Amino acid sequence: MSKQAFTIRRITLEEATPVRLDVLRRGTPSRLATYDGDSEPTTVHIGAELSGSVVATSTWLMRPWPDDAQSPAVQLRGMAVLDSMQNTGVGKALIDAGIAHARERGARYVWAKARDSALYFYERRGFAVEGEQFIEPASGVSHHLVVLDLRVERKEGIAVER
Ligand SMILES: CC(C)(COP(=O)(O)OP(=O)(O)OC[C@H]1O[C@@H](n2cnc3c(N)ncnc32)[C@H](O)[C@@H]1OP(=O)(O)O)[C@@H](O)C(=O)NCCC(=O)NCCS
Repeated sequence: MSKQAFTIRRITLEEATPVRLDVLRRGTPSRLATYDGDSEPTTVHIGAELSGSVVATSTWLMRPWPDDAQSPAVQLRGMAVLDSMQNTGVGKALIDAGIAHARERGARYVWAKARDSALYFYERRGFAVEGEQFIEPASGVSHHLVVLDLRVERKEGIAVER
């Protein structure tokens, strides 16, 4: 349940960047918070707004899932919720909006390089953890790949082919 009402909407890269820097680059040597493809026509930034301010951001790019390069897929990058709004359902709302976007684009997969500290968050949303742990140079923290196959519907932890 949310403490306060927030609105999910498309945001601009300029709105996304300060939230990325605050949440994902704080305490790291990197002040770079842009990604290849940020401005591609097929890329969308989806955020949460509260009282006129953007409090969370996520970026959704058309990028193949490495294990099945033939199928259309959407990569999630820059998932970040301001500290004051974490654990209030904002992240879940962004994932739901991004998955709806990916379905509209005809994607089979949604995938991400997920921080190990956030793996539970993705697993709760039905993502599978794949492959070996790796360190992302920009943040210096450990990650795993996570992937959601949109052809598989998950009900109470049981995968059902659609
Ligand atoms: C991880 C993050 C995006 C989750 O968003 P959020 O709005 O805090 O999450 P929600 O309130 O929607 O929580 C959904 C579920 O995930 C869990 N969760 C939230 N943050 C978590 C975290 N950091 N690690 C593990 N689980 C987490 C919640 O307990 C909740 O579990 P439930 O469904 O069993 O109740 C957000 O906390 C965040 O930005 N963290 C710092 C940056 C980060 O790690 N980004 C992800 C990079 S891959």
